[in-house]
Amino acid sequence: MNVDMRLADRLKKVNPSSTLAITSKAKKLKSEGFDIVTLAAGEPDFDTPDFVKLAAIEAINSGFTKYTPTSGIPELKKLICDKFKKDNSLEFSPNQIVVSCGAKHSLFNTFLVLVNPGDEVLIPFPYWVSYPEMVSLCQGTARFIKTSPKNSFKLNPSDLIKQINERTKILVLNSPSNPTGCVYTKDELKEIADICVKNNIFVISDEIYEKLIYDGLTHVSIASFGKEIKDLTITVNGFSKSYSMTGWRLGYLGANEVIAEAVSRLQDHSTSNPNSITQKAGLAALNAPEEFFSKICTQFQERRDYCISRLSKMPKISPIIPKGAFYIFCDISKTNLSSTQVANRLLEEKYLSLIPGQGFGADDYVRLSFTASNQQLEKGMDRLQDWLTKL
Ligand SMILES: Cc1ncc(COP(=O)(O)O)c(C=O)c1O
Repeated sequence: MNVDMRLADRLKKVNPSSTLAITSKAKKLKSEGFDIVTLAAGEPDFDTPDFVKLAAIEAINSGFTKYTPTSGIPELKKLICDKFKKDNSLEFSPNQIVVSCGAKHSLFNTFLVLVNPGDEVLIPFPYWVSYPEMVSLCQGTARFIKTSPKNSFKLNPSDLIKQINERTKILVLNSPSNPTGCVYTKDELKEIADICVKNNIFVISDEIYEKLIYDGLTHVSIASFGKEIKDLTITVNGFSKSYSMTGWRLGYLGANEVIAEAVSRLQDHSTSNPNSITQKAGLAALNAPEEFFSKICTQFQERRDYCISRLSKMPKISPIIPKGAFYIFCDISKTNLSSTQVANRLLEEKYLSLIPGQGFGADDYVRLSFTASNQQLEKGMDRLQDWLTKL
């Protein structure tokens, strides 16, 4: 029996994650004993902090291991409202918050409740790999908007206007961005917000890297410009990147109560509540002092600066200096190879793993993560330099 033919049509169009493909190949080589340097990870290298782990252990010991309300426990939703107010100047009430199993889940829920077949979703590219696949799973149409390295890969308002038509429903924004590390300024976001309000377009604002920001910049939430844009914006955030909690699976969104209620209703019939223990861990995480992030940012910024200084001296590669997140997007067009060829050859010939840009909609680029120890970064840079010099 040909099972492939019998899969639901919606799955046939979904591509496997290109980031996962190369990382699993690297993991396999590592398990076979090869000395692999991994600059591919989408997660911080530090451990989940003890104050978070202890809260989870306490939750288990006290028997907090049963179903909770679908959209999250009231204390956590209240603390998320406080966080939105303090960090993002956004006033939400708990009925406008839905806690889910990771920001990815919050994003997918949002697409599921908003996208009808044929609706168009505007996605600036390079983009995070999962946005187009999520849109496709919802039978929407992803319409990509090209951005330029000359503008740090930020969406140009006139390009946005050109793509809007009567089927346009949503714009996806991701600042700080994976993979480019670009960070939008207040003025840039205000201009985009005005266009979305004028054209009645929803904004899904993925702010998962908000705390990882460099050079003294501050993160701005697009929903903070007033009631009209706030009503149209679904602000998504999570615990994975800021607190190194990728395996715990906890994310959340703040939105208009009608959207939040729809997301909660959807979640009632899919996952129900996010893990009860993880929610208690999330409570502890949100109580972290601000110095917790400044320490991480200082360390990441030093690593970024080290990699940029090395990369800028190498032939055939041009890095874009990231202002946030923990990735460096590098132009490799001068190698005359595709991004997949570069990533595969570096892995096979130099045991160095990076992510090809092809899955982000940018085949002239590779993505390098600087969430590795200084020693690993140095080793990785040496291998890359050696390979490029001999190419
Ligand atoms: C831009 C972006 N959004 C969302 C996510 C998903 O995060 P989570 O682990 O909370 O599902 C990621 C993870 O890589 C990401 O890079």
